[in-house]
Amino acid sequence: MSRSDRSRLSQATLAFRSKALVATLASVGGFALATSSAVFAQTPAGKVKVGLMLPSSGTYAGLGTAITNGFKQYVDEQGGKLGGLQVEYAIVDDESNPAKAVENARKLIKRDEVDVLVGTVHSGVAMAMAKVARDNKTLMIVPNAGADEITGAQCAKNVFRTSFSMWQPAYAMGKVMADKGFKKVVTLTWNYAAGKQSIDGFKESFTKKGGVVIKDMSLPFPNVEFQPFLTEIAALKPDAVFVFFAGGGAAKFLKDYEAAGLKKSIPLYGSGFLTDGVLQAAGESATGVMTTLHYADGLNNKEDKDFRSNYQKRFNMVPDVYAVQGYDAAQLYEAGLKAAAGKLDQQDKIIAGMQAAKFDSPRGPMAFSKANNPIQNVYLREVKGSLNQVSSIATPNLEDPARGCSL
Ligand code: PHB
Repeated sequence: MSRSDRSRLSQATLAFRSKALVATLASVGGFALATSSAVFAQTPAGKVKVGLMLPSSGTYAGLGTAITNGFKQYVDEQGGKLGGLQVEYAIVDDESNPAKAVENARKLIKRDEVDVLVGTVHSGVAMAMAKVARDNKTLMIVPNAGADEITGAQCAKNVFRTSFSMWQPAYAMGKVMADKGFKKVVTLTWNYAAGKQSIDGFKESFTKKGGVVIKDMSLPFPNVEFQPFLTEIAALKPDAVFVFFAGGGAAKFLKDYEAAGLKKSIPLYGSGFLTDGVLQAAGESATGVMTTLHYADGLNNKEDKDFRSNYQKRFNMVPDVYAVQGYDAAQLYEAGLKAAAGKLDQQDKIIAGMQAAKFDSPRGPMAFSKANNPIQNVYLREVKGSLNQVSSIATPNLEDPARGCSL
């Protein structure tokens, strides 16, 4: 029996029990009747259970927190409800550990009976989660992980993403760097799906415009022993360096790059994860670094201004891309719930509502491809002080090619 079936059954049981309770209470006088009406006032209307599977430990802990903050902010702005249903949470720390992903996702689906699975940051964990979601026909929203397969070769009707594919910001940066006249580039990343696909996206557009990657380098996730790579970059003397790093590891990389004396001589570029949510930790070492991403500081649209001022009030900090992705995950789910008039057992209608959703995100206009990945602007940004200040739209309305997806 599905959770929706069970919830219909338990609502019927509750109604029956409530009637019995009225009969009993009515027979024992006025005080008891007053109590019984209080019982009815508290009878829950519909509820929806959201499973948040995100990291709250390890190098991506800060990213998981920002996503949670953004999601809860949107829900709270709607009075604690989505599509008229009171939101409850079941929460798991996935530790960015792919080996525990299947078990954690199953716990949320089987034990906690969540209506939607929201997660996660790390691509390896998200791909394992998505398989569990596909096998169980559970609705899933990915609020960060960029593995191209999630909305590519392994796409599914019930799996949506409110973040990006690895290809999107990296592809935009390949063009930017080629247009800046760089000819020879070295790449460096963590050796896992997100890192490799970020480098692939960059190379696709950079080489199409005549650029050459003279060396690809990588180290295992989440290692931060960057020194040997920095020594090699100094020896190779490329025109520029393109990297994928994120979270705590990104802050360490920025500092090490500067400390190695490379910042003055070899310009550093990356997908925006390199500098998002890490500027406080990276300090001066990040100043001037240019990145591409689907969010930036200084966008100045109404939704972003409201979102930022509420976030600042609630959490006493400036939001980053991860917070926006969490916020939009709640916003997207709400579009689905509204389309199904809050009926959780009508998954087809929920999915159709999400597929058709178009809204003004703090990041700008947002719509979804057939593969359920955002179609969105990718911005060129530059670190100025504590901000990733927008400098232009690198590519407007960029849609991932969704290679291998036949939805
Ligand atoms: C990923 O593993 O897909 C990933 C992790 C952190 C980011 C971006 C992508 O900032």
